[in-house]
Amino acid sequence: MTDLTSLSGRAALVTGASRGIGYGIAACLLGRGASVTITGRKEPELAAAAEALAADAGVDAGRVLAVPGNAGDADHRADAVEQTVARFGSLDVLVNNAGINPQYGPLVDADLGAVSKIFEVNVVAALGFVQQAHRAWLGAHGGSIVNVASVGGLRPTGVIGAYGASKAALIKLTEELAGQLGPGVRVNAVAPAVVKTRFAEALYAHDEDGVAAGYPLKRLGVPQDVAEAVAFLVSDAASWITGETLRIDGGSLVAGRHG
Ligand SMILES: NC(=O)c1ccc[n+]([C@@H]2O[C@H](COP(=O)([O-])OP(=O)(O)OC[C@H]3O[C@@H](n4cnc5c(N)ncnc54)[C@H](OP(=O)(O)O)[C@@H]3O)[C@@H](O)[C@H]2O)c1
Repeated sequence: MTDLTSLSGRAALVTGASRGIGYGIAACLLGRGASVTITGRKEPELAAAAEALAADAGVDAGRVLAVPGNAGDADHRADAVEQTVARFGSLDVLVNNAGINPQYGPLVDADLGAVSKIFEVNVVAALGFVQQAHRAWLGAHGGSIVNVASVGGLRPTGVIGAYGASKAALIKLTEELAGQLGPGVRVNAVAPAVVKTRFAEALYAHDEDGVAAGYPLKRLGVPQDVAEAVAFLVSDAASWITGETLRIDGGSLVAGRHG
């Protein structure tokens, strides 16, 4: 029987993948047979991650390509897409995972420069990667895109409002793109609640058990929880799913939690 979850022979580009959720996604896609390009701003960390990914998966180092740069930089986006197609011969899967949140507290006092930066990286850069990937490969050959949003884009967060608004925009962008890019290209999103990474430490490190107690599944997320869902969404097993945002939240939304 054909394994519809196999990604054998496909090439994936995962942004922001030197650690955390992006690294977990890259590892999972590699494990399903894809070749993977990873991005991130800090070159040494990215190179180390590429080495670790190949070693952990037990695959040839040539199956992982590291392209350092800032997702908000148009030249970097073009470079990452171009290098992926040049190295692997295709770009079948794009995962827009890079995201930032430099703003906490009441929106009325928010620094607008920080708010613009959030939207630039979390929304505009994601669309920029879609455009580049579509022109270079997806438009002619088809493929699949997943945007990493957040439960903060589905309901008010209280303290990280600009970030939540940017993730709501990313979810909306996902729906618009799904309508425009079918039938060749599927576009979906995932919306995680708190996943244990450096990015989210401030939300749980003070009392992990206490925070987890508010989730029906009584634990916080780990990168693999998100990675498995992304690997499913980009695979042929999800070939009739597009425009969807999959919550991966330990049940936090049904429990009425904010995060
Ligand atoms: N952790 C959570 O609880 C949670 C929940 C919901 C959604 N998310 C979303 O999941 C995604 C990943 O978050 P994470 O928790 O895995 O964060 P993380 O552990 O801090 O990892 C972030 C990764 O993205 C890279 N990165 C950051 N800014 C970048 C930029 N401007 N351009 C390119 N790469 C960049 C980082 O490397 P460099 O620093 O070297 O650039 C790193 O590899 C984000 O979109 C976040 O909004 C996270």
